[in-house]
Amino acid sequence: MMKRDRKSEVLALLQASGDQFVSGEQLCRKLEVSRTAVWKIIQKLKEDGYEVEGVSNRGYRLKHLPDLLTREACLSFFHGNWACTQLECYSVIGSTNERAKEAAAEGAPHGTLIVADCQNAGKGRRGRQWSTPAGTSIAMTLMLRPDFAPEKASMLTLVTALSVARAVEELSGLNVGIKWPNDLVINGKKLTGILTEMSADMDQIHYVVIGTGINVNLDQFPEELSETATSLLLETGHPMNRAQIIARSMEFFEQDYADFAAEGSMKRLKTDYEKRLVNLDRKVQVLAGENGFPGIARGIDEEGRLLVEKADGTVTAVMSGEVSVRGIYGYV
Ligand code: BTN
Repeated sequence: MMKRDRKSEVLALLQASGDQFVSGEQLCRKLEVSRTAVWKIIQKLKEDGYEVEGVSNRGYRLKHLPDLLTREACLSFFHGNWACTQLECYSVIGSTNERAKEAAAEGAPHGTLIVADCQNAGKGRRGRQWSTPAGTSIAMTLMLRPDFAPEKASMLTLVTALSVARAVEELSGLNVGIKWPNDLVINGKKLTGILTEMSADMDQIHYVVIGTGINVNLDQFPEELSETATSLLLETGHPMNRAQIIARSMEFFEQDYADFAAEGSMKRLKTDYEKRLVNLDRKVQVLAGENGFPGIARGIDEEGRLLVEKADGTVTAVMSGEVSVRGIYGYV
């Protein structure tokens, strides 16, 4: 497992013990530091907004877990190996995808994750804007340096959709659908968008950035989005911890990425992806200029293409990135 810094480690130990006390001695032993050092770390956590109760002869316990998007908060939940190796957390940034591209150009390693509490120039697909208001949403971008062929990179969007869906399902108890290729959907409304960008030569990827925006604790949407967008707060009725969602998504991504990379395809992930595919056996309209056509979505192939059956029974594999698929009825 990735080695945490001391502050994240203390936070992880306090979180893991719930409302039970963790003794000062235990903390000293686990961290291999003095009592004074532990005390200083606890003071720092209090300054950050964590309510830590300290009782002599019993130790420390967390009374309140604020929903912070700091390095310590994310790392304290993360039990993986590499998908947060280098983690940058910002309170405000233009776009985490843009920062991830800069970090890549600066030589940042595979697995660098950029997280922001608020984006003021967030980017959606097809040149649209993406809103990440402070204190309520997740904007995160994972930078990868894969050694497979550039034409496989668009599948990483599907892999990410699956990993985030698994994390949200586990933590919220909700059923999460995937609208091909990469929107996460709950009760017919959009929860999450993913924007993947790549820098590559014809035969070699320099880097890929996969940006995910999740509506977590938003209690309302602007009029024009209220019919098509939703948040975890609206769906579960309670606020959720954003750092935990990020960490769990990255843990699932490590597993799903390994399955993807082993085959260089969606072969091992196809069943789990299709289980969540909201388009399955539903009418879709393939939008491809004059060559667009209606059909029924029948699943995905191992390359992550949507299989669309036309009225004459023939099946066409539709590439993500080339065309977009709209449901005949409403958003899904
Ligand atoms: C979509 O249009 O559905 C894709 C939205 C992607 C938004 C995320 S938020 C984190 C990352 N940074 C950005 O500027 N965009 C992506």
